[in-house]
Amino acid sequence: MLRETEPGLDLHQHEVARLACIVGDELGMQNEELDVLARAAELHDIGKMATPDAILHKPGPLDDREWEIMRRHTVVGERILNSVSALRPVATVVRSTHERVDGSGYPDGLRGGSDSPQRLGDRGQRRVPRDDQRAAL
Ligand SMILES: [Fe+2]
Repeated sequence: MLRETEPGLDLHQHEVARLACIVGDELGMQNEELDVLARAAELHDIGKMATPDAILHKPGPLDDREWEIMRRHTVVGERILNSVSALRPVATVVRSTHERVDGSGYPDGLRGGSDSPQRLGDRGQRRVPRDDQRAAL
């Protein structure tokens, strides 16, 4: 679906996957982890299917409300991929594709170090976001 509205998407997906695997290899990831990483790179923006075209293709800068909608694409992508059991490890990675080491990313505001998303080989449950942890206290 995205391919129909995003010319050049195939090239972008494959280039992101190629670069991600180069980095993953440098980090010492094993074949199974690299496979998950490659799939996640290829599918990282699948959640944009739920983002209105008026936002995806807006020629000017997005306003705050539009950014709020745009930022949902990682969580929507996770939800889509979680519907296929074989893709659940990929879903976890897709959710984290806009996190930043300094904690300024989304959707969970994870920081590098102890908040880093789980290793790709760990197929257990996703880390609980810091805000959710605080709310539970
Ligand atoms: Fe994205």
